[in-house]
Amino acid sequence: MIIAIDGPAAAGKGTLARRIATALNLPYLDTGLLYRAVGRLVLDAAQDPADPAAATAAAKALTEEDLVRTDLRGPDADKAASLVASIPGVRAALLDYQRHYGDRNGAVLDGRDIGTIVFPNADIKLFVTASIDARAQRRHSELLHRGAAISLDAVKEDLKSRDEADRNRAAAPLKPAADATLFDTTNMDAEAAFFQALELIRNPSR
Ligand code: DC
Repeated sequence: MIIAIDGPAAAGKGTLARRIATALNLPYLDTGLLYRAVGRLVLDAAQDPADPAAATAAAKALTEEDLVRTDLRGPDADKAASLVASIPGVRAALLDYQRHYGDRNGAVLDGRDIGTIVFPNADIKLFVTASIDARAQRRHSELLHRGAAISLDAVKEDLKSRDEADRNRAAAPLKPAADATLFDTTNMDAEAAFFQALELIRNPSR
């Protein structure tokens, strides 16, 4: 079984996908981590994440170890990931990894293009959204919790610009698959989102 969970940044995809995977006993892949790790490798090599040759080479050289680094979150990694994600060579290099991952035992995958490009025949496709204010609030409290000093406005602007880049890029832009179920979590906490999503998965026709 393949469950595709797509949507903009900080919509609650990761928390939801992880809980669904545990509940259904499926492996879980956070595909954003792949782009983050590629961005990191390029920064480590003192190269430019917007450079297609450098970023594509990094994507081809990616290993499992790169995915468990502890520096894949935070403003630098966010920015680098967003830049490498718009490069077609990077996306092509990461496609096989994602498909093999899902094909082994089924999986829950979250990202931006899982239902449109990576697994267009996924059994379940959810497109998770929330208002920009709700997403900014959530990401802001998460960052404060981790000790970052950043204003709510700065978080909101950053989310807006990354979403815009994800939506407007030519390669695999962020958009709901035609057959995806839209799932708006603006007025739900993580618990409510989990139970409602599980209900949708168990009774997809309702
Ligand atoms: O979900 P995230 O914030 O960890 O994703 C990091 C970046 O990678 C973000 O700019 C969108 C991009 N991404 C993508 O283009 N396709 C995916 N399947 C997952 C993430």
